[in-house]
Amino acid sequence: MIADLRPEGTAPDWTLPQNWSAYTAQDHATWDTLFARQARLLPGRVADEFLAGLDILRLAKPGIPDFDELSERLMKATGWQVLAVPGLVPDDVFFDHLANRRFVAGNFIRRPDQLDYLSEPDVFHDVFGHVPLLANPVFADYMQAYGLGGQRANGLGAIRNLARLYWYTVEFGLVHSAQGLRVYGAGIVSSFSETRFALESDSPHRLGFDLRRIMRTPYRIDDFQQTYFVIDSFESLLETTLNTDFGPLYDNLADADDIAITAIEPHDRIVSNGVQTYHSGSFQAAAPRDGLDLSATKS
Ligand SMILES: [Fe+2]
Repeated sequence: MIADLRPEGTAPDWTLPQNWSAYTAQDHATWDTLFARQARLLPGRVADEFLAGLDILRLAKPGIPDFDELSERLMKATGWQVLAVPGLVPDDVFFDHLANRRFVAGNFIRRPDQLDYLSEPDVFHDVFGHVPLLANPVFADYMQAYGLGGQRANGLGAIRNLARLYWYTVEFGLVHSAQGLRVYGAGIVSSFSETRFALESDSPHRLGFDLRRIMRTPYRIDDFQQTYFVIDSFESLLETTLNTDFGPLYDNLADADDIAITAIEPHDRIVSNGVQTYHSGSFQAAAPRDGLDLSATKS
């Protein structure tokens, strides 16, 4: 559980000025190192919509982006903006921002010795990982719908179920494309090691997107995922979300057991049936995962 005490110096909505001029040369160099590594790795592995977002928002410009400049471009594309927060925010604050097309991003960057590991989402995870897809009109609408859904779920005691949808799409989602599987979740695209693991390892399961199934599936916050869910398209993800009556679904889920993290269910659409050797200890020398985001796990 994250403390709900608002940090000093933040506004009532938990935002604060990014204070861009306070970043050091080392901070910008850390961003550039991470950016260059992912820019080399992602083409051919990430959804085209993500690469288009990098272009639209001119994120290849060196250094940590200035949120005001970034918001100006994003506002023109989809009406979203990016605001700085000092760290994780409570659920209700997070949902309110999303519902109003505001994405809140940590304004700090990891230390140079933490390139592959961090315990809280930093500006690289939040901006490089999340913001490019916010320049896509369909995904932008999905994120707002998620925020509105979060506000309703809060009143229905169903945050735990809904957080799994965020986790398995916004953070760790895969998508079918004409050229094959692609990553789009921010936790993957901001992580050098999980980008390859999610697509290329024979360890994890990859299953077709199923909203109710996802809401019954726990997830890992400490390591690579053991199961990834694959959407057919961003359009279909948005459509499913908008067309689902979540109230009865939550009622129904209240009586349903969780599905074990490694299980394959009879109705699963199997994209790949993972051997699950990574998590059974066969590859313990692998790098720890990065891009960890607890924003959907603190309930
Ligand atoms: Fe995230």
